[in-house]
Amino acid sequence: MKMKIIKDNNPLLRRTSETVELPLSKEDSELLDQMLNYLKLSQDEEYSKKHNIRAGVGLAAPQIGILKKMFVIYYKNEDGKETKYELVNPKIIETSVRKCALNGGEGCLSVEKPYEGLVHRNFKIKMIAYDNIQKKDVEIVARGYDSVVLQHEYDHLDGILFYDRINKANPNEQLDNEQII
Ligand code: NI
Repeated sequence: MKMKIIKDNNPLLRRTSETVELPLSKEDSELLDQMLNYLKLSQDEEYSKKHNIRAGVGLAAPQIGILKKMFVIYYKNEDGKETKYELVNPKIIETSVRKCALNGGEGCLSVEKPYEGLVHRNFKIKMIAYDNIQKKDVEIVARGYDSVVLQHEYDHLDGILFYDRINKANPNEQLDNEQII
């Protein structure tokens, strides 16, 4: 399935997404499966080269022009352990005072130009959502990298892009309570 990812010059990416009706429709469920599949394929070197697509670890529905509160995440750690979610109507219910930022900044499938600088995030979050992989409501406690990826995708549902969180005046300035990971 061909997935058209819209870029950050498209005003749709700045809009707030709508809450999704549950139980999930077959259409929404299939869309989430297709989005997850896209991420998996994007991480396949041969496939991504052939189809000229970039590797991504997260994709939110607004990035394919659908303003619904849904996103998917897929990546493997060094041991091959998968982190995967198809989240619907996510809500962050707790955040840590402690901050973190990825060393080297963040990227986004909708942003072609590189933006240098620390993207300030909460080190730890608690998120609730419906997960279409586990087919149930979930509560996710995430720290560090896992937390950053969830917050990046969550931001898309509010029309926020990662570079909005970079301090333009001092892009590499580390906050007092911030860990660089
Ligand atoms: Ni993104």
